[in-house]
Amino acid sequence: MKKKGLFWVNVLMVLVLIAGLAIPTADVAAASKSKQKKVLVVYFSATGTTKGAAEKVKKATGRKLYRIKAAQPYTSADLDYDNDDCRANTEQHDGTVRPEIKGKVKNIEKYDVIFLGYPIWWGKEPMIIRTFLESYNLKGKEIVPFCTSGGSGISGSMKEVKASAKGAKVVKGKDLTDLSYKSVAKWAKKKVK
Ligand SMILES: Cc1cc2nc3c(=O)[nH]c(=O)nc-3n(C[C@H](O)[C@H](O)[C@H](O)COP(=O)(O)O)c2cc1C
Repeated sequence: MKKKGLFWVNVLMVLVLIAGLAIPTADVAAASKSKQKKVLVVYFSATGTTKGAAEKVKKATGRKLYRIKAAQPYTSADLDYDNDDCRANTEQHDGTVRPEIKGKVKNIEKYDVIFLGYPIWWGKEPMIIRTFLESYNLKGKEIVPFCTSGGSGISGSMKEVKASAKGAKVVKGKDLTDLSYKSVAKWAKKKVK
């Protein structure tokens, strides 16, 4: 009887100890979760290269992925940049065209950081990126641009992306063409620390 009583005292002590250890751990986890930045990865891709880069960014940051879809999809004839009159060239050279987007990001207000990916067209971001940026209230958000390109890089797009993302902080962008997952992840993770 005495032994049995001691056994239950021991069980009780172990339970108290476990609870004592678990509560602070739960508090720390909750605190760090609330500090974690909420991240959205948005991209536009006409032929799939930027999609591949966006998927790497998403994998590295473990968050949501949203694809910007043109209401009127781009055909290969639309993208034939050797033809002066093709749709993509006409839009890029005009600069004021805002191609319509199909769909919307739900609850954009809940995100702190938006990675924004696009191909470079005539040295700049496709006009549909301006449509996207001008469609939302981005005040207080951080925008992290990335691109893929045939070699021009992202710098030629930064000025207009900044101008279109009113109220947002647009940080220095990066061309992710042909970068390994490891390199993309290293870069992306730094942006959400
Ligand atoms: C209309 C058009 C214009 C382009 N202009 C450029 C350019 O100025 N500089 C460059 O490096 N690449 C240019 N490219 C190549 C794309 O940026 C590159 O192939 C990109 O990776 C495509 O991404 P996507 O497959 O996600 O659409 C152009 C492509 C198209 C279709």
